[in-house]
Amino acid sequence: MTVVTVNKKEVGLNGTIRVPGDKSISHRAVMFGAIAEGTTTVEGFLAGEDCLSTIDCFRKLGVRIEQNGENVTIEGKGWDGLKEPSEILDVGNSGTTTRLMLGILATRPFHSVLIGDDSIAKRPMARVTTPLREMGSHIDGRENGQFTPLSVRGGQTKGIAYESKVASAQVKSAILLAGLQSEGVTSVSEPALSRDHTERMLEAYGVEVKREGLKVSVEGGQVLKAQHITVPGDVSSAAFFLVAAAIVPGSKVTLQGVGMNPTRSGIVDVLLEMGATMNVMNERLAGGEPIADITIETSSLKGIEISGDLIPRLIDEIPVIAVLATQAEGKTVIRDAEELKVKETNRIDTVVSELKKLGASIKATDDGMIIEGKTSLHGASVSSYGDHRIGMAMAIAGLITEGSVEIERSEAIAVSYPNFFEHIEELQK
Ligand code: S3P
Repeated sequence: MTVVTVNKKEVGLNGTIRVPGDKSISHRAVMFGAIAEGTTTVEGFLAGEDCLSTIDCFRKLGVRIEQNGENVTIEGKGWDGLKEPSEILDVGNSGTTTRLMLGILATRPFHSVLIGDDSIAKRPMARVTTPLREMGSHIDGRENGQFTPLSVRGGQTKGIAYESKVASAQVKSAILLAGLQSEGVTSVSEPALSRDHTERMLEAYGVEVKREGLKVSVEGGQVLKAQHITVPGDVSSAAFFLVAAAIVPGSKVTLQGVGMNPTRSGIVDVLLEMGATMNVMNERLAGGEPIADITIETSSLKGIEISGDLIPRLIDEIPVIAVLATQAEGKTVIRDAEELKVKETNRIDTVVSELKKLGASIKATDDGMIIEGKTSLHGASVSSYGDHRIGMAMAIAGLITEGSVEIERSEAIAVSYPNFFEHIEELQK
């Protein structure tokens, strides 16, 4: 276990950084490259532990993948290029690897076994195993396929029209990926729009994707053609520095090349509504995704309500939004966010318990949390509980606490942001 100590910044954060590549897009670039025909090249890949788990699994499925920092080359040989693995596929801490790979394996005529860490073992898998079984795939696992370890014997599947109860890009993507190798048409509709990187990237790989409001469909039998993919900066990683700059006195930070996909950019809307002084500039496209440079400075903030369709657009940013809300005048209410309970940790519990230790006025609700600001936070010993985003949210809080914040299990941060602490240091030079 690694313990990191973070101290209050007496001078502000200043400078320019480029946050690492988007995690969701990096996973998909590798997976889609693995089932495509030809050589796919990826630049800006996130070499964090989760995406490295994806590479490791697809290598075990017989795909040649070379990774050199942010550059990856994948020798795709089409769907049939995937071979029955002789080893267990270890997904580590990665929900995206688990669920999207299940969608791919569901149609492969061989046996495979998936396992992950303690956190993965608690995460609900029935949301994908149930529809994939309905399509005809043979999936088994602990508690009748609800949890890892899971085993898959794929085969001929048929398309379904699936109505998902949750707005989840992992569910949507798993079913659509299986649909690409199933008979007939497969469609998924969701209660609110979740991130649409799968839809965008499948189109880039030459697949026909039909989108009608909250429904997406694909026809079976489609082949992916190898591509060059440019991965934008991860807005979910940028969120930590957007919040840090807004709350650390005397700060002005520019983040370059941040992904601004509208299904992901809820954090920008929240900061603006809270009254942050920020500027979104140089909006452009990179690899079919909108990106921009963002400058933000220390701001006086007010509490707001965050709920409804906005939630899927910022679900991963809620831990650090809670930190932000402790520094906003008045009440911030987060509702409709029960999905937080099934992330790497139960993030309603972990955010509330750890911020309370720092003196925040925060209370858990059934579907979110209520934060009263503005509060002076103090130092304490906290834990990430093995959840990268909890670890980083605590580190950002530590930049403004009287007294230091000691973060246990800080090694989890390498899951999505291996150079997080280097970036904090760079902005203090
Ligand atoms: C992701 C989707 C989201 C998100 C996760 C990454 C993806 O999960 O929280 O970090 O890459 O598709 P859900 O699909 O469970 O909402």
